[in-house]
Amino acid sequence: MTTTMRKWAAIPGLLALAAAAVVLSAYSGASSDEGRDIEQPLPFPHPVHVKTLAMNCMYCHFAAGKSPDPGLPAVATCMGCHITVGPKKPDGSARPGVATLQEFWKKGQPIPWVRIHKVPDYVQFPHMRHVNAGVSCQTCHGQVQDMQRVTQVASLNMGWCVQCHLGESNPPFKARYDCSTCHY
Ligand code: HEC
Ligand code: HEC
Ligand code: HEC
Ligand code: HEC
Ligand code: HEC
Repeated sequence: MTTTMRKWAAIPGLLALAAAAVVLSAYSGASSDEGRDIEQPLPFPHPVHVKTLAMNCMYCHFAAGKSPDPGLPAVATCMGCHITVGPKKPDGSARPGVATLQEFWKKGQPIPWVRIHKVPDYVQFPHMRHVNAGVSCQTCHGQVQDMQRVTQVASLNMGWCVQCHLGESNPPFKARYDCSTCHY
């Protein structure tokens, strides 16, 4: 953190005094949603789909490699399997959430998932640039395949972004870090 700040202060002519005060306060990460526990309209378990069924992240978040926004799957994507994989297991025990999923499908309604990760509107975050540069989903989102319920594990604040763009993450990456990279 301290080395990041020293490098920032060394960028000539970029930091107007007023901006510098706000920029430095942003390093405190006060507005972080890290760890926020969210109740979804139905409990979607990543582990069953990603680990047990070996589905690729891009099967559902297919736009992550070609668009700024990875998006969430349509109900039809789920129904490819859940027309036949119903709310009851062969042994009679329940599959929580599948009945609710089928109700949304019958009503023709999208599932109102609650958004977890969000940067402010004045920040540009192109997913595809990161995915195509080889930054793994887990580097930023943690071990989603092990999460019964997705939570945010990184602060997503400016210090977090800049630290990686400067090459100080593990593993290291490099990207532009002038202000207009992320704010325009
Ligand atoms: C079968 C479809 C499916 C697969 C496969 C899948 N996801 Fe998801 N993902 C969803 C759905 C549905 C949601 C919204 C509900 C939730 O948050 O749990 C979601 C939510 C998320 C979120 C939170 C989105 C937000 O609101 O901020 C992240 C991050 C995420 N997935 C990453 C991954 C990663 C990484 C993988 C691969 C390891 C993966 N997903 C595989 C369907 C899928
Ligand atoms: C490639 C097929 C496939 C797709 C696509 C798929 N699922 Fe599933 N899902 C399954 C199977 C198979 C199971 C049952 C696994 C088991 O019982 O071991 C399951 C289980 C579930 C369960 C119950 C988990 C539990 O607690 O036992 C829920 C809820 C669920 N899926 C929701 C969804 C949603 C929502 C989507 C779309 C975002 C989706 N699934 C997409 C195959 C799929
Ligand atoms: C460099 C860090 C980083 C990487 C790598 C990354 N993400 Fe994200 N992800 C973010 C940030 C930051 C947001 C919030 C973006 C916003 O608000 O525009 C986000 C948001 C999301 C969302 C919610 C957006 C929506 O449309 O609902 C999903 C789903 C998601 N990421 C999935 C993935 C998947 C899947 C991968 C890997 C293929 C991935 N991410 C790779 C940082 C990352
Ligand atoms: C773990 C490392 C990492 C994190 C964290 C990260 N980035 Fe990046 N970012 C990269 C890499 C690598 C590239 C691709 C550089 C390239 O293609 O030359 C990139 C590219 C970008 C670009 C496109 C830059 C250009 O040259 O046009 C933007 C904008 C961007 N990131 C914004 C963000 C924002 C905003 C955040 C925080 C919410 C963030 N990044 C977090 C590694 C990261
Ligand atoms: C790699 C991406 C990235 C770069 C480069 C970047 N920012 Fe940011 N900036 C962010 C993100 C993400 C946020 C929002 C999250 C936060 O408040 O930390 C933000 C927030 C801000 C805010 C609002 C802070 C607040 O507390 O409301 C200001 C002002 C700002 N940036 C100015 C700058 C200036 C000036 C530069 C150049 C010296 C710069 N940014 C470079 C990603 C970046």
